[in-house]
Amino acid sequence: MRAAGVTEFGGPEALHIVDVPAETLGPGQVRLQVAAATVNPTDTYLVLGVYADRDPVKEPPFVPGMDAAGVVAEVGDGVEHVQAGDLAMGIVVPSGAHGGYREDLVLPAGSVVRAPAGVDAVAASTLPMNGLTARLALDQMALEPGQVLAVTGAAGAFGGYVVQLAKADGLTVVADASTADEQLVRELGADVVVRRGDDVAARIRQHFPDGVDGLADGSVQDALVLPAVRDGGAVATVRGYRGDGQRGLRVLPTRVRRVAEDRAALDRLRQQAEDGVLTLRVARTFPAAEAAEAHRTLARGGVRGRLVLTF
Ligand SMILES: NC(=O)c1ccc[n+]([C@@H]2O[C@H](COP(=O)([O-])OP(=O)(O)OC[C@H]3O[C@@H](n4cnc5c(N)ncnc54)[C@H](OP(=O)(O)O)[C@@H]3O)[C@@H](O)[C@H]2O)c1
Repeated sequence: MRAAGVTEFGGPEALHIVDVPAETLGPGQVRLQVAAATVNPTDTYLVLGVYADRDPVKEPPFVPGMDAAGVVAEVGDGVEHVQAGDLAMGIVVPSGAHGGYREDLVLPAGSVVRAPAGVDAVAASTLPMNGLTARLALDQMALEPGQVLAVTGAAGAFGGYVVQLAKADGLTVVADASTADEQLVRELGADVVVRRGDDVAARIRQHFPDGVDGLADGSVQDALVLPAVRDGGAVATVRGYRGDGQRGLRVLPTRVRRVAEDRAALDRLRQQAEDGVLTLRVARTFPAAEAAEAHRTLARGGVRGRLVLTF
């Protein structure tokens, strides 16, 4: 079976096509014939070997990729919500040769739902991982309708979904953007757009002098964004930042692995995509054999919408 993975950790050039055995299908599992797998920032860390210590699998190849979409090839005992032939999407927790960048992929049934109606595999693959992360970030902050949420990295995959889900939850959203991204971020639904940058907290305070109730830090600016939030407010971080312990801020690291088998949440995202609440954004597709080039493109920055590998 074809996969794009690494046998030695390194930069994008370490990625190449590897041959991997088909995965075994057990009860409560779904086999996908993967047609599309997204390229996320976290994949670049896996390729570099940053996660090697915590992966119980120590033997190469290592296959990155945290979401995938394709046709259901077969289902294990007890699986009823999808069936062979359905176009489906799923979130992947990579380990060893088990990652999204492979044509044959077996996932827990809780990690797989039907793709949104009318959406192809490439677009569907962009939703599971970042959609679930955005949902988890919002759920952890637990803001009430009418409260104010700031979003940094709002033009990005995570940030964009946070903006859209937050608006659907009835929050007021202030989001950052470069000049070039301002229209995009407004179209995503932000009520107020401020210029991105190291002074983003001060710019948010200009609009909300008492500070915002919550902030989702998709740009990973960590300590720089804390001053935007009122005393006792909430901050969702995405790369483990835990705050400085000041002003009673609730700094909440978001780990999507926690909700990787939350089928109800994934299915709600599917529904919200069908309802037009969520916009599935694809920047560009690459054949899986060009995974290295996709990673180089991501590393250059400025990608809007997801890069997707196709099989
Ligand atoms: N913990 C989890 O479970 C989890 C799950 C999903 C994602 N994440 C993490 O969340 C982060 C965002 O992911 P993503 O997929 O949304 O990435 P993305 O699509 O690249 O979006 C990030 C956005 O932030 C902007 N940005 C980067 N550095 C900035 C800075 N210093 N100031 C202002 N804006 C800046 C980027 O702009 P440019 O492109 O112009 O640089 C881009 O618009 C990544 O670090 C990812 O690993 C974590």
